[in-house]
Amino acid sequence: MKKTDKRVILTGFMGVGKSSVARHLSFMLGCDKIDLDYYIEEKENRTVAEIFEVRGEEYFRRLETENLLEILDSGAKIISLGGGTWTLEENRSIIKNYSCTSVWLESDFDHCWRNIRMSKRERPLVQDKRGARKLFEERQKAYCLADWHFIIKPEFTSFEVARRIAEEIFQTKI
Ligand code: S3P
Repeated sequence: MKKTDKRVILTGFMGVGKSSVARHLSFMLGCDKIDLDYYIEEKENRTVAEIFEVRGEEYFRRLETENLLEILDSGAKIISLGGGTWTLEENRSIIKNYSCTSVWLESDFDHCWRNIRMSKRERPLVQDKRGARKLFEERQKAYCLADWHFIIKPEFTSFEVARRIAEEIFQTKI
């Protein structure tokens, strides 16, 4: 297994598979990964949905930024963001100060929607398909600002996506 100094930030819409790709990638490369949502949940001892419900989105966004900084400082090599993290200019400029390659996992809306519906994870910002599609479309221009765009074809599993990222960015043959 090849040791690497590179760091990758995975972004993209809810349901695109950021956490699963991060998990496979960290296994393939033998390096540590942190998922921002899970990190926050562990520290706060409640789910993201509960934080939204009790304290509201603005509070969650503040937690997101604070914890993003902590994770970047920790030196973790693979970081998967929440779907909204990258859309805030403040977070993008924080990330720019660390030498990370940002990767947009890009897919069509139906791919994300299928995964959102199948997942047990509660996502407070997507209550219905129409609202989710609108948010998806509004966010494309922010995701476009990532260093790399990785287009997820319908036949790709998250393992396959991770394998290709490992090959293309980390130059590691899996
Ligand atoms: C959000 C995405 C979620 C989570 C929160 C808000 C968003 O993460 O951070 O519900 O604004 O897109 P996932 O992208 O992992 O679902």
